[in-house]
Amino acid sequence: MTDQNNDRVFIFDTTLRDGEQCPGASMTLEEKLEVADALDALGVDIMEAGFPIASQGDFESVSEIARRVKNASVAGLSRAAPKDIDRCAEAVKHARIPRIHTFISTSPVHMQYKLQMAPERVLELIASSVARARNHVASVEWSAEDGTRTEHDFLCRCVETAINAGATTINIPDTVGYTTPDEYRALFEMVRSRVPNADKAIFSVHCHNDLGMAVANSIAGVMGGARQIECTINGIGERAGNAALEEIVMALKTRADVLPYKNNIDTTLLMRTSKRVSAVTSFPVQYNKSIVGRNAFAHESGIHQDGMLKNAHTYEIMTPESVGVSKTSLVMGKHSGRHAFKEKLKELGYDLGDNGLEVAFTRFKDLADRKKVVYDEDIVALVDDEIANA
Ligand code: KIV
Ligand code: ZN
Repeated sequence: MTDQNNDRVFIFDTTLRDGEQCPGASMTLEEKLEVADALDALGVDIMEAGFPIASQGDFESVSEIARRVKNASVAGLSRAAPKDIDRCAEAVKHARIPRIHTFISTSPVHMQYKLQMAPERVLELIASSVARARNHVASVEWSAEDGTRTEHDFLCRCVETAINAGATTINIPDTVGYTTPDEYRALFEMVRSRVPNADKAIFSVHCHNDLGMAVANSIAGVMGGARQIECTINGIGERAGNAALEEIVMALKTRADVLPYKNNIDTTLLMRTSKRVSAVTSFPVQYNKSIVGRNAFAHESGIHQDGMLKNAHTYEIMTPESVGVSKTSLVMGKHSGRHAFKEKLKELGYDLGDNGLEVAFTRFKDLADRKKVVYDEDIVALVDDEIANA
């Protein structure tokens, strides 16, 4: 029996499965092992290591990760087919806590065109696939693919069937990134209140970012009673990606006053993990990406830099150290003001006095108008020239 009122939220990382499905982000076995080690150190509760039936390489990497990971539960994905489930069971069997994650589509459009199956057949397959998975392992997750576009009465019947067959986690994915926060929250409230055996499973969110709402939707789902969040490092994943782990975790930490949900992530490892995933996938992190983008703790405008120098709370809602960034950076550019320029000179070892400062500041502004960013070396050259010609 699961108490959905408790405040512990499980972090299910799918960087190695849904993340790897991102065009251009495939990883070798060695790279996957490196990421798996980083995720385990980060403190994820469950890592989805791959889709064992997809290829021999995927099977081997899931199986190697299952043997190697010390703390997290290791999951493999499988369709609702006996050969998928048995292959998945074989791959995860050496994990400390093996999990089989089986799924089938439940929306009208997927059942009609993709599966070409009647709803009653889908229900039969849910029962048989979950029961088969439960014969292999104690931890079985069932997902209603395209759950947010599924008709509500049918979704409730599917969830009830999966739980009766032994599913311990029920995931309702927003497969195409279509839902909104209010709608997703209400969906979990509706299913949990209507399905008679709902309290026997943990509910899970899995959001894609097609409309840029994956993180907001994930958190709304938790407010609706879900207690597992599926996400990826840097938000990599199919199309526009999945909900970004680092954003979810830092939102929960920074707004614990209104989001009182606990998890096990060591947030000081977020930047390092992001860099490692970016390096092995050759997938760059956008400069202005929340939490781990290179500008996430950088300030250029004079007003902001002045505020930051007086008190960091003026323009930072979390410390850079809390996500593993050594310090805030005040980027020197045409928007920078006298206060930041003076601090920069101090940091570089110069004390020019009031007059010298004014002259150097005018030359700096001149230069900044011509260059996007003025580097420390530019300032040193400018000041040394000023001193030489004084
Ligand atoms: O987006 C999705 O629906 C999925 C499922 C396989 C869980 O990735
Ligand atoms: Zn997905």
